[in-house]
Amino acid sequence: MPELRPVHGGTDSLPQPRHDFSSNANPLGPCPAVLAAIRRADLTRYPDPMYTQLRGRLGEFHQVSPERIVVGAGASELILRLIRRSSGTIRQLVPTFSEYARGAHLMRRRVSSVHSPRAFLRAQERDPGLGFLCWPNNPTGDAWPLEFIAAAAAGPLVVDLAYAPLCEGSAAAGIERAAARAYRLYSPNKAFGLTGVRGAYLIAPRIERHLALDAPSWVIGRDAVALLESGAGRPAQRWLEQSLPRVRRWRTGLAGSLRDMGLTVSEGPATFLLVRVGEATRIAAGLRGRGIRVRDCTSFGLPEWLRLSAQGPAAQKALLAVLKALL
Ligand SMILES: Cc1ncc(COP(=O)(O)O)c(C=O)c1O
Repeated sequence: MPELRPVHGGTDSLPQPRHDFSSNANPLGPCPAVLAAIRRADLTRYPDPMYTQLRGRLGEFHQVSPERIVVGAGASELILRLIRRSSGTIRQLVPTFSEYARGAHLMRRRVSSVHSPRAFLRAQERDPGLGFLCWPNNPTGDAWPLEFIAAAAAGPLVVDLAYAPLCEGSAAAGIERAAARAYRLYSPNKAFGLTGVRGAYLIAPRIERHLALDAPSWVIGRDAVALLESGAGRPAQRWLEQSLPRVRRWRTGLAGSLRDMGLTVSEGPATFLLVRVGEATRIAAGLRGRGIRVRDCTSFGLPEWLRLSAQGPAAQKALLAVLKALL
């Protein structure tokens, strides 16, 4: 029986750590404009079961028909729904986000894991099924070439863009166009530092009413409606844009300090990086015992690596001191 228990970074059952490098959410969040909209949300009433106004707003934001937009209780819920509505093999380019394989196991579907874009395209040609590509990839930060994404989108494909809004602008330019023929998955709670609000959406390549209907009624609450609607607004987008240079400086600074310690670092255009520490589980446990949470990448098949998100100078100083002692 495959492992169905979710294995994620972020929250665990221990007390909140002093410094959290395990979550990839925007470290400068929560975004004030989005938080204010959530606080204004009237939680005494059900949301509109069709989410008409919200889908209209998101359609305008992405310049697509609102009828192609499907909202869900987080990208994880939408991943499960997409798998349930598809047929055949579930394909992934590993190492990657665990929910694609977990969803496949829950739905008793075959999982095909490949290790390179070329192998992905070859396998897709033989057996289309449904492919998942994460851009930029969690945990490696790989921003797959846009030509590869466009070629893969010729078959049934989901492009998970959870961290795309947190990427350097030049890297992110063009991904929407490259993925235009795929299901595009958006999870704005990360960019706005509000992962506790369970709301996300997808843009389907064509109108598919069954996808929106294959969920419990009122699948997202008014707090999530407020997050998604205000997240597409000018104040939230401006805040996000302004936050990124600082977060990027934190990431490159952290990468530099780790390299100065003689460690191998792998960086992409997103706000997190990978560092090779040897026994990742032991090091992660040692850090956790000293109030610092990191993501042990063993469950991704990378037992020597930790994933670290960009955090501020005080958090970095604490991390580097404990890491030096543990190594
Ligand atoms: C790549 C990726 N996609 C989707 C998700 C899940 O997002 P949500 O919080 O919207 O369920 C995560 C969460 O870690 C993720 O890393």
